[in-house]
Amino acid sequence: MLDIGHDVLTARQFERSDLTRLAEVAERLEPIARGEKVCRVLEGAVMANLFFEPSTRTRISFGAAFARLGGAVLDTSGLETTSIVKGESLSDTARVISGYADVIVVRHPTPEAAKIIAGAALVPVINGGDGEAEHPTQALTDFYTISKELKARGKPIDGSTIVILGDLRFGRTTHSLITQMSVFDDITFHLVSPEALAMPEAYADIARKRGHTVKVFRTLEEGLAGADVIYATRYQSERFQIDPTVREAAERLRLDAKSFRAHAPEDAVILHPLPRDEVFGELATDIDAMDNLAVFRQTDNGVPIRMALFVTILGVADSFHEMTRTPAWPLRRRPE
Ligand code: NCD
Repeated sequence: MLDIGHDVLTARQFERSDLTRLAEVAERLEPIARGEKVCRVLEGAVMANLFFEPSTRTRISFGAAFARLGGAVLDTSGLETTSIVKGESLSDTARVISGYADVIVVRHPTPEAAKIIAGAALVPVINGGDGEAEHPTQALTDFYTISKELKARGKPIDGSTIVILGDLRFGRTTHSLITQMSVFDDITFHLVSPEALAMPEAYADIARKRGHTVKVFRTLEEGLAGADVIYATRYQSERFQIDPTVREAAERLRLDAKSFRAHAPEDAVILHPLPRDEVFGELATDIDAMDNLAVFRQTDNGVPIRMALFVTILGVADSFHEMTRTPAWPLRRRPE
């Protein structure tokens, strides 16, 4: 069970009760995440955001989550700006930073990097993506989004059909997602990818061992049938050389308004961890006008769920509401 002082390294560590609790806390934090309320419960706390790989939403949403709770954020972007290029080990870096901050968020190109850092740090460490392995807080964001989107459609998560589409081999968010959603009951997972980019068996096995149905498809026609949720992902071209056969197979799996209308149920929710590759177009922009597309609700959800994580591991999940007040500044956010 997630508790004060814990690291967050893999989606495997969250049980159903953790998710329910985090979602409840996140829901209460939403007005603060949107800036409609102010809360300084983490005043005096410092978070170190160590990003050794490119990032937009993960780094900024972690920073926004901590700042909205009154904490201060220290940012490092890119290996080249740190002493790691001088030969310093991850363990030394971790021990040093943990003398400056109360919690560390790390993204690194090497699987297991977050684990190494957690082993040497004196404060909780959160994995913001470790190479092609995992991205547990994206899975929390995805779970939170799926639960809200299905609830709005009058459907439970239990018994649902979740399609995971795209690069399932190198797409770390898909590994954490299948692991995370496997804590629910009776899920049917459709794994749809080019053959060379199939989901590693170790992750598919987590779902099978929990009694879920895992089906592998190579076409949208079969893959999208019966979907409650369609989770599209980017081809991770920074991690492998995409050859012509893989490219062709991937092109046939592009999700656009036409393929969605032809093969998916009318009320299916479309998610993507983003960024989408605008040039390749695995998730076409002609879908943007459809309410099925929940990707920006999904990015918004990344802040309250990360706030819920911070208040839980820093021990103020039960007290932050006493410190919540109305902001002195007028809201300027425009309606969508
Ligand atoms: C993903 C990542 O970095 O793994 N992005 C994210 O954090 N939302 C997905 C990707 O880069 O394709």
